[in-house]
Amino acid sequence: MDKIAVLDFGGQYSHLIANRVRRLNVYSEILDSNTPAESLKDYKGIILSGGPQSVYEENSPQCDPQIFYLGIPILGICYGLQIMVYKKGGKVSPGKVKEYGKADIKITKKEGIFEGLGAEENVWMSHGDEVAQLPEGMEIIGSTDNCVNAAVADFEKKLYGVQFHPEVTHTKNGMKIIDNFLNITGAKREWSLDAFIETEMRTIREKVGENKVFMLISGGVDSTVAYSLIQKAIGTERTHGLFVDTGLIRQHEREEVEQAYKKAGIENVHFYYGGEKFFSRLDHVYEPEEKRKIIGDTFIDVQKHVVETMGLNPDEWLLGQGTIYPDTIETGGTKNADKIKTHHNRVEQIEQLIKAGKVIEPLMQLYKDEVRTVGQKLGVPEEIVQRHPFPGPGLGVRCLCAMKDDYPENHEAVEKEINDYLHEKYDINGQILPIKSVGVQGDARTYRHPFLIKLHKDTKRDWELLGEISTDITNRFNTVNRVLLLLHPRGVMDVKVKPGYITKDRIELLQKADYRVTQFIKYHKMYGEIWQFPTVLLPLSLNEGSGECVVLRPIQSEEAMTANFYRMNWKWLDELVDGINETPGFDGVFYDLTNKPPGTIEWE
Ligand code: XMP
Repeated sequence: MDKIAVLDFGGQYSHLIANRVRRLNVYSEILDSNTPAESLKDYKGIILSGGPQSVYEENSPQCDPQIFYLGIPILGICYGLQIMVYKKGGKVSPGKVKEYGKADIKITKKEGIFEGLGAEENVWMSHGDEVAQLPEGMEIIGSTDNCVNAAVADFEKKLYGVQFHPEVTHTKNGMKIIDNFLNITGAKREWSLDAFIETEMRTIREKVGENKVFMLISGGVDSTVAYSLIQKAIGTERTHGLFVDTGLIRQHEREEVEQAYKKAGIENVHFYYGGEKFFSRLDHVYEPEEKRKIIGDTFIDVQKHVVETMGLNPDEWLLGQGTIYPDTIETGGTKNADKIKTHHNRVEQIEQLIKAGKVIEPLMQLYKDEVRTVGQKLGVPEEIVQRHPFPGPGLGVRCLCAMKDDYPENHEAVEKEINDYLHEKYDINGQILPIKSVGVQGDARTYRHPFLIKLHKDTKRDWELLGEISTDITNRFNTVNRVLLLLHPRGVMDVKVKPGYITKDRIELLQKADYRVTQFIKYHKMYGEIWQFPTVLLPLSLNEGSGECVVLRPIQSEEAMTANFYRMNWKWLDELVDGINETPGFDGVFYDLTNKPPGTIEWE
């Protein structure tokens, strides 16, 4: 099959580029930026991705200069354009103006990648450096007000470069530009998910032979689709799945998964309840990292136990896994592949299977949206295909634990400083909470306090302004990495830690709020536009109450790298809060106004 290589220079959007190419029906792979030219000969075209560094900096990612002499069409995007120019003898320097966001490009040559475009196009820029001097053979084909060399080409050698990002949706005709490039490469449009399913089923049958397949499934999209594909390929009798209920899953999750599997004709899935073991090991544990480790280790123990009872003999069994393409690639975006999933795959018995070459990963070539489409084609119900991602440690990372009040040093002075500032600028005030949560600022992990803001009763509620205030607070005051809005009750005077670790009771309390939230956003058709909606339990009692607090954390995101807090319709939000208040056990309800960065999506 014809394919396109995307050389990855560490840009946020490398996967997006490969994904776009595939949507245009050409198979595309991500490769290391330094891949030798020799190994790229069989590709029909090469796309050089963006990247956060400067091409002239020491230790910045480079590429083999010979790639420009292979005679293969190349498209450089942002850093990719700059590295092409630099390697071919042109100059790159810091731009006089740094461009972030929308820009208009005047197209001076409507040929090659710009075939069929208008005289002016709306594009999306994000760069500090720019091309200062073109190498021989290259000419300008488009410019913006701030960037003369915004698009360049060497038509004869089929080398193209754009300073903007055609792969993001903000570039209106971005897909057309990539499509034009694919035409230039002459790659045949052979990549289709129907063809993928056919080929993969054949491969599975060949690989499994007379044996059987065992798989751990979480009820999420990837593992379910992988299981379903394997089952379709070799039949239900030889496919066995295991769903481990850690006690930290969502309310009714097991029943929902069971029902959805039944609907999809997915069979032979065993359910195992291991909750008691998790709760007893989490007894009196407060520290987030320790909790995570215990949950991961306990998962392995439970799994080991079940696998032993099932007596999987490596001579007869293969292990199926729902690994997808981004999980296999070590790029900026996916380096931190999730720990729990790795844990699942590291049990000794499973290690043995891996060593013996007995692991089968049918989705290893696919992106998430492709997995979803394959799922739909296989008849996996929508409630699973469109499911929000859920972390491996489950509600364990959404149930905060604390022993006693934990305020920053000079708490009162710091709080006063923030309040003076807020009062003067926005006429609002708030308070620092005596707990901490995880955040990410300047690429590093932080563990700091949330600041709870309170609005006057008659203040108009405005998400844009609240977003601005939130960013202002976290930028200005480094004791704080998260900003919350008080939704209920209207007035808070006294906040105290209500000592607590993970117990069945607390998880059940959280499950109730979480379940209500999930039902509510489905009912009001918000589920699709929200990317993920953690509901978080805080061990805080308000105004001498006996309950705890709950945080609503809906976000919008593209694959979790960055995220914006979701702006919910106020009327619905009020309804949701009323609903939560009907459940006994909650003293307060907060809304998380923090983007990522500076906050992470999860609290721990
Ligand atoms: P953060 O909190 O780092 O989360 O912004 C990014 C995405 O990863 C999910 N997440 C996890 N998923 N095991 C998982 O399977 C984990 O330990 C884990 N921690 C975070 C999180 O839900 C979000 O989608």
